[in-house]
Amino acid sequence: MKVLVIGGAGYIGSHVARLLADKGHDISIIDNLSSGTEENLFPEYAFFRGDILDYPWLVSVMKQGYDAAVHLAAAKAAGESMRRPEKYATQNLTGTINILNAACEAGISRLVFSSSAAIYGEPKYLPIDEAHPKDPTNFYGFTKLEIERCLEWYDRLKGLRFVALRYFNAAGYDLEGRVHGLEKNPANLVPVIMEVAVGLRPHLEVFGTDYPTPDGSGVRDYIHVTDLAEAHCAALVRLMKEPRSFAVNLGSEQGLSVLEILDAARKITGRSIPMVMTGRRPGDPAKLVASSAAAKDLLGWEAKHSDVETIIATSWRAYTHHFAHDA
Ligand code: WQD
Repeated sequence: MKVLVIGGAGYIGSHVARLLADKGHDISIIDNLSSGTEENLFPEYAFFRGDILDYPWLVSVMKQGYDAAVHLAAAKAAGESMRRPEKYATQNLTGTINILNAACEAGISRLVFSSSAAIYGEPKYLPIDEAHPKDPTNFYGFTKLEIERCLEWYDRLKGLRFVALRYFNAAGYDLEGRVHGLEKNPANLVPVIMEVAVGLRPHLEVFGTDYPTPDGSGVRDYIHVTDLAEAHCAALVRLMKEPRSFAVNLGSEQGLSVLEILDAARKITGRSIPMVMTGRRPGDPAKLVASSAAAKDLLGWEAKHSDVETIIATSWRAYTHHFAHDA
């Protein structure tokens, strides 16, 4: 299959591209390198550096005969989206509309879209399944939900078939240590812990230890990025075989607390990883866990590498690759 991975130099996109190439697919990447890095690009890929906001350029790349596209080019910091909604409106909404229109103009009728658990908002029940009410609590989640709704209309009106993958908390790095471009200015828990472990930050701030959870810290469903990549491959294969659109959660169905992750990171890295307990971060629910029954049913997919040891060990390898001399 000839696949265009939009945002393929980024954290998740680079793992998706690597796995698709491993499975023998012909990979082209679009990325503006605003948050992705050239380090994540492998020699066998065709690389087109440019911006999805540049519509004529986007159409010219998309017209190069692709069987399908994977769209992961987006801004993704929920907190920032509340301070800078215009950035998220432009990059996520306008950028995706460009991709949908360009796909239609270029004759690409299969798309895998990188959606998010952020579309659900505050959990009404757990585990969260796909029928859970969708009421995002941040503008980032709103952009992902609006795009899913656009996709439904493009499916009906333009015959664009899609699978929307609603990621929970992506974490970890390539199991074989081949992808190690680090995220710039990370805000998520695991990369922040890694930055403390290598000495880039003085300590981890634990946002809240008074939640109604077993140890008082927030519980999330961490999903290894290689598991996510496998789901993208399964979604593409399914779309080629049976072109029917749907959306599924991607989670491990396991909850891990901030303190459990910190504990595992201290053991695996052998670093002390200092922490300070601070107050709750506004908008953070106590616990989020996915149901992945639909992904199993529709994609034959389930998490295989999302245990805390694999998540931390593969992350640590990526960070030590960069910071070996300072660590
Ligand atoms: C995880 C846990 C924090 C940092 C975000 C987006 C969501 C989705 C996934 C993309 C929470 C705690 C964190 C720190 C901490 N993204 N924490 N100290 O908020 O669950 O989800 O990423 O689609 O939309 O909102 O992820 O990694 O920020 O936090 O204590 O320095 O770690 O409070 O309990 P979150 P996170």
